[in-house]
Amino acid sequence: MKLSKALRPLKGELRVPGDKSISHRAVMLGSLAEGTTEITHFLEGADCLSTIGCFRRMGIRIDKDPRRILVHGKGLHGLAEPSGILDCGNSGTTARLISGILDCGNSGTTARLISGILAGQTFASELTGDASIQKRPMGRIIRPLRAMGASIESIAGNDCAPLRIEGRPLRAIHYNSPVASAQVKSCVLLAGLYADGSTSVTEPALSRNHTELMLRYFGGSVVSSGLTAAVQPEPRLRGGRIDVPGDISSAAYFLAAALLIPGSEVLLRHVGINPTRDGILRVIRSMGGQVDILDKTVSGGEPAADLLVRSCPLHGTVIEGDLIPTLIDELPVLAVLAAFAEGTTTIRNAEELRVKESDRLSILAESLSAMGADVTETEDGLIIRGGKPLRGAVIHSHLDHRIAMSFAVAALAAEGETEITEADCVKISYPNFFEDLNSLTR
Ligand code: S3P
Repeated sequence: MKLSKALRPLKGELRVPGDKSISHRAVMLGSLAEGTTEITHFLEGADCLSTIGCFRRMGIRIDKDPRRILVHGKGLHGLAEPSGILDCGNSGTTARLISGILDCGNSGTTARLISGILAGQTFASELTGDASIQKRPMGRIIRPLRAMGASIESIAGNDCAPLRIEGRPLRAIHYNSPVASAQVKSCVLLAGLYADGSTSVTEPALSRNHTELMLRYFGGSVVSSGLTAAVQPEPRLRGGRIDVPGDISSAAYFLAAALLIPGSEVLLRHVGINPTRDGILRVIRSMGGQVDILDKTVSGGEPAADLLVRSCPLHGTVIEGDLIPTLIDELPVLAVLAAFAEGTTTIRNAEELRVKESDRLSILAESLSAMGADVTETEDGLIIRGGKPLRGAVIHSHLDHRIAMSFAVAALAAEGETEITEADCVKISYPNFFEDLNSLTR
């Protein structure tokens, strides 16, 4: 994909696709609930389609039409041993009939959350995914699940997928998580639905709480207090209606582009602003930018609002500590923003970026430098001395959707032409990203 400097300001309005985290959870909890769950504004990105594929293989009927998804839940004990054809995608392997294998594609959320559910079933299964998934750390879920009595092993013995999970009765635990990860927290809480008592997780900083909110909305008993969330076992979850708000992680690219391109004014409709996800708004403010929050609503326990953003000069800031989990997926585009802001931006405590779809710290340092930015990579972050004019370059996406979209924003503000390799990886979280970007730059 080739992109050039924007010749005109960004103008107009957009509804970005549904939140990825909430879309995954709506399918998962809808499958474990009784009755039908109707999901509107579901994100039809490849990651969420992987989740649908996994639950279909476990016997859940999921109907899809352009307006909505219907998940015909079978209750907490209604999943069946996975069966059917495993779609081997473009891996070169012929599709084979492999009983028991679930394909999570590129999706860490699918792999880690489903593991918690599979641990408490009465059948055995295997779970795998693409080359990136097979390198991402699963020890972080293997350890707490084993403490609950689960049988889960990494088949290659490297704490990565493929994983083999033999379902069995689980013990309730209290888990002190060493990482602020919603995937780890959610995995343990979902396993807790099948445990023999109250299961709780304490994290070092609060990560996104969509699992807790949706479990409560479906009738589960979840208590959150500070950094701890506790779930009671064996609830009767009742299916409901979920209208998925727009994903603030997708809105982030347009917030950044509108801030950077002089004269821009963009209205982003119905974006999720859950306080465990809104760190980007706080950072934009600390850089001297402004986003107006209009027409606030709450649906299914999730707050949403329209976001109005205008271009404005920005300065450097510090992004660290408890803020990090609230903007973890927005750090790539915030690093781009920082490269164009006057002065120094320091990002610390962000070592988790090294174990996302790619090692985002090293790829950000390499790619921003290729465009002429002054960046130092540290063990847990980046120091970006901003304000130097950037020029177009060839940017390798490394098949990481957030790298591709972040550098599309950089391309609009840089001199000359930028080429982003394998840019269609945006389909993971935002299939129409380039069309939507074009609609604002026309
Ligand atoms: C997610 C949690 C985050 C985030 C990921 C989605 C989720 O991961 O990076 O894109 O839906 O729970 P961690 O919480 O593991 O950092």
